[in-house]
Amino acid sequence: MRWYFLTMIAVAAMVVGLAGFRGTRSANRPLEFLNDMDNQAKIKAQSSSDFFVDGMGSRKPIAGTVPMGYTMPQTTAQSGGFQEFGFAQGKDYFNTGRFGDFWGDGFPDEVTVDEGLVRRGKERFGIYCAVCHGAAADGKGVTTNFGVANIANLNLPQFADPANAQYRTNGSIFNTISHGQGLMGAYGSNIVVHDRWAIIAYVRALQKNAITPSGASPTTPAPANN
Ligand code: HEC
Repeated sequence: MRWYFLTMIAVAAMVVGLAGFRGTRSANRPLEFLNDMDNQAKIKAQSSSDFFVDGMGSRKPIAGTVPMGYTMPQTTAQSGGFQEFGFAQGKDYFNTGRFGDFWGDGFPDEVTVDEGLVRRGKERFGIYCAVCHGAAADGKGVTTNFGVANIANLNLPQFADPANAQYRTNGSIFNTISHGQGLMGAYGSNIVVHDRWAIIAYVRALQKNAITPSGASPTTPAPANN
């Protein structure tokens, strides 16, 4: 009996010595007596593997696979098909907002300013810009509640009034959308060129509305009273 107790104490001391007390934190990896399937044979992305005949670890999508929501472009980007995606290509006003070293104003020939464009701009503005700039472009979007500070109020004279010394032309706004500024990120890789102009058209409409909040467009004279 004496040996039994002595052995038990020795075993307990050994277990505690090896595994520590319950609840003690340890920086070491847990002891794994049975494999908990934490570690399994796998192939890491972009690495080679003998498992497949072609020696590549990654599998190519089945020929003809199209991501949901997209149609396959008819030509590849390398063969000049980049334009089909609608992202910037070239150094002209439509693609950069610049004429040489200067910002341009107005809309490029490639863009027809009509109701459809403004509608498209409204939709895109709602998706990409309103979270910060607010639905009325007054800089009071929902993110102001979460610490995004100094969001530009696009209805201020420097953005809306061509007579203002710091007036941002359409080309300058195009550049801000494409490349971002300060806390604002770049949207050039998310918004296709034509949609950037549509957003600008919508921002201009919002600005007009902010200047004449009654809703009357400053360019249309009020109907004559008779
Ligand atoms: C993450 C929040 C955020 C989003 C989203 C955002 N902006 Fe901004 N934007 C800002 C902030 C902040 C500034 C002020 C940047 C500065 O000057 O530091 C700014 C500035 C601007 C300016 C003024 C730039 C100048 O010349 O001073 C324009 C124009 C503008 N944004 C347009 C847009 C448009 C159009 C969109 C949608 C495509 C958009 N922003 C999306 C945060 C945002």
